[in-house]
Amino acid sequence: MTKRVAVIGAGPSGLAQLRAFQSAADQGAEIPEIVCFEKQANWGGLWNYTWRTGLDENGEPVHCSMYRYLWSNGPKEGLEFADYSFEEHFGKQIASYPPRAVLFDYIEGRVHKADVRKWIRFNSPVRWVSYDAETAKFTVTAHNHETDSTYSEDFDHVICASGHFSTPNVPFYEGFDTFNGRIVHAHDFRDAREFEGKDVLVMGASYSAEDIGSQCWKYGAKSITSCYRSAPMGYAWPDNWEEKPALEKLTGKTAHFADGSTRDVDAIILCTGYKHFFSFLPDDLRLKTANRLATADLYKGVAYVHNPAMFYLGMQDQWFTFNMFDAQAWWVRDAILGRITLPKDKAAMLADVAERETREEASDDVKYAIRYQADYVKELVAETDYPSFDIDGACDAFFEWKKHKAKDIMAFRDNSYKSVITGTMAPVHHTPWKEALDDSMEAYLQN
Ligand SMILES: Cc1cc2nc3c(=O)[nH]c(=O)nc-3n(C[C@H](O)[C@H](O)[C@H](O)COP(=O)(O)OP(=O)(O)OC[C@H]3O[C@@H](n4cnc5c(N)ncnc54)[C@H](O)[C@@H]3O)c2cc1C
Ligand SMILES: NC(=O)c1ccc[n+]([C@@H]2O[C@H](COP(=O)([O-])OP(=O)(O)OC[C@H]3O[C@@H](n4cnc5c(N)ncnc54)[C@H](OP(=O)(O)O)[C@@H]3O)[C@@H](O)[C@H]2O)c1
Repeated sequence: MTKRVAVIGAGPSGLAQLRAFQSAADQGAEIPEIVCFEKQANWGGLWNYTWRTGLDENGEPVHCSMYRYLWSNGPKEGLEFADYSFEEHFGKQIASYPPRAVLFDYIEGRVHKADVRKWIRFNSPVRWVSYDAETAKFTVTAHNHETDSTYSEDFDHVICASGHFSTPNVPFYEGFDTFNGRIVHAHDFRDAREFEGKDVLVMGASYSAEDIGSQCWKYGAKSITSCYRSAPMGYAWPDNWEEKPALEKLTGKTAHFADGSTRDVDAIILCTGYKHFFSFLPDDLRLKTANRLATADLYKGVAYVHNPAMFYLGMQDQWFTFNMFDAQAWWVRDAILGRITLPKDKAAMLADVAERETREEASDDVKYAIRYQADYVKELVAETDYPSFDIDGACDAFFEWKKHKAKDIMAFRDNSYKSVITGTMAPVHHTPWKEALDDSMEAYLQN
């Protein structure tokens, strides 16, 4: 086979793609030449932690949005790889909300075993991609920071797996420019201890707001005020955490909220989400979508309808993560290998996108949304040889997780769930989350 495929990014999605091709090759299939471009010096995507913020050692925008003391915010039973269980990796079942370092180790374990590192060019940001309709080839231009040179190569397919939680959405509010404390976006938040003894304002009402506020609370902030634009998170927060409606403005260090109340704060953490941002893609190849379950312009959530030789992985908002990326990667592999045929006609692909959007919009219910994404994973898994697994069981873990959060937001990580891959129950972690200050892998695995 002379086809060449470029994969942009070696995070969980890009690595799923490499594993998908390797597993086909293992079973005797002829596979294309795969080149994975990764701008960082190591794989793992967001899970590859760095202390750096702003620009990295090469002057590239830092990709990492993770922070010290980050533990999984959903049960690991919802994300387990169907072809590589936690028990296979760790030699035993482990507790359900692993810290970042533990999940990084797990992600890495599967691709070490698959021996796909040789397909990755590290320190190699993709600068530009173009498509020539006459030759039906993509030209990928990348920078090699090791030799400090820029070069271009041609490919038959491009798979964009560059993530969409790295370019911060940073709003402006009156008074930000004259505030004397620190204003930092979640993307640049690293160590909660920085906010010890401080009155912290957390803006936003989604996962970053909840988790970064909880981190600051756990590591000794004096008080947390969180504020929402659309709807409150609504948990039973600890006594020194107050939830307020939208911020209107700041005067000095005083925050003014939509209900007329005020609060003096020392620091502001903007948990205001991220942008799908692809500075390396021209208009005709660039996905433009909101952060939602049914992305715009992606047939089956992966094939770019305006040029279906180009694919995107992991561009949806995410209840399911690693196993959804796998389902997508196996499907994309099979489309490239000719085992799956894409519709010839663009209208049919757009109709698929529209149907997914309509179905997503049919309900605001959280359980509905989880099931919606589960159905999507099921749909893709059924069309490939990715090992089928109990996706309804994974939904059950998510439903339990939601209940546990509603019961006690500072203790939900003290629960455990049953693996849908091996059927074993996870142990309860040895230390309640709010007392577990050491989140190293050694400490976590002591169960
Ligand atoms: C703070 C935070 C916490 C999270 N916690 C969880 C969690 O607990 N559990 C969970 O399941 N999910 C979590 N997620 C969701 C997360 O999106 C996925 O787990 C996963 O990292 C997505 O994988 P990805 O490969 O699609 O993207 P990413 O992990 O973002 O990886 C993309 C890769 O592409 C590379 N790249 C980008 N641009 C270029 C370029 N131009 N050239 C070359 N390479 C490039 C990047 O360097 C990176 O390695 C979290 C997300 C955030 C922001
Ligand atoms: N420990 C963990 O595992 C962990 C921790 C943090 C994040 N994450 C993951 O990271 C991903 C991103 O989560 P996220 O919370 O950063 O982003 P998000 O889910 O997109 O939420 C963005 C939030 O910002 C608000 N917002 C946006 N613009 C605003 C503005 N101009 N003014 C005020 N509020 C504004 C939104 O409010 P509206 O609702 O009004 O739009 C929303 O509440 C998720 O996949 C999440 O699971 C995981």
